[in-house]
Amino acid sequence: MSRTIETLVRQHRDCDSAIEQVEASVRAKDWNAAAAAFACLEAALQGNFNTEEQRLFPAFEQAMGFSNGPTAVMRHEHDEVRGLLDNAREWLELQDISALAAELDTLVVLLQQHNVKEENVLFPMCQAQVRGLDALLADASPGAAT
Ligand SMILES: [Fe+2]
Repeated sequence: MSRTIETLVRQHRDCDSAIEQVEASVRAKDWNAAAAAFACLEAALQGNFNTEEQRLFPAFEQAMGFSNGPTAVMRHEHDEVRGLLDNAREWLELQDISALAAELDTLVVLLQQHNVKEENVLFPMCQAQVRGLDALLADASPGAAT
């Protein structure tokens, strides 16, 4: 597996852990910890999305010669996740446990399905099609948002 794909898969797992941290803090009704965990989750997701949208997807689109394929679907799903995060942030600020838990449940399901598609379909396609995949994140610090 290329270093670039390894990094992105690790970012996916880090986001999963960050969601679990938020859920655990909310269950414990520790709102300060929940706010801190939520900030970590937002940073982790944004870093992963930015890396994919600004590095991987353009390289794939250039290799394939089109941008309306799987990467368009993945970008759309990223926007859906951003929308769920916005909702969750509002429920968090209102300390509404049941609404926040429901929003996080939806987020977990959407993200799981999204990451499975990337890891099982898009990333292997990138491995096959993108030349110089290993070097794609070479100048980015780990988890960088650029
Ligand atoms: Fe993604």
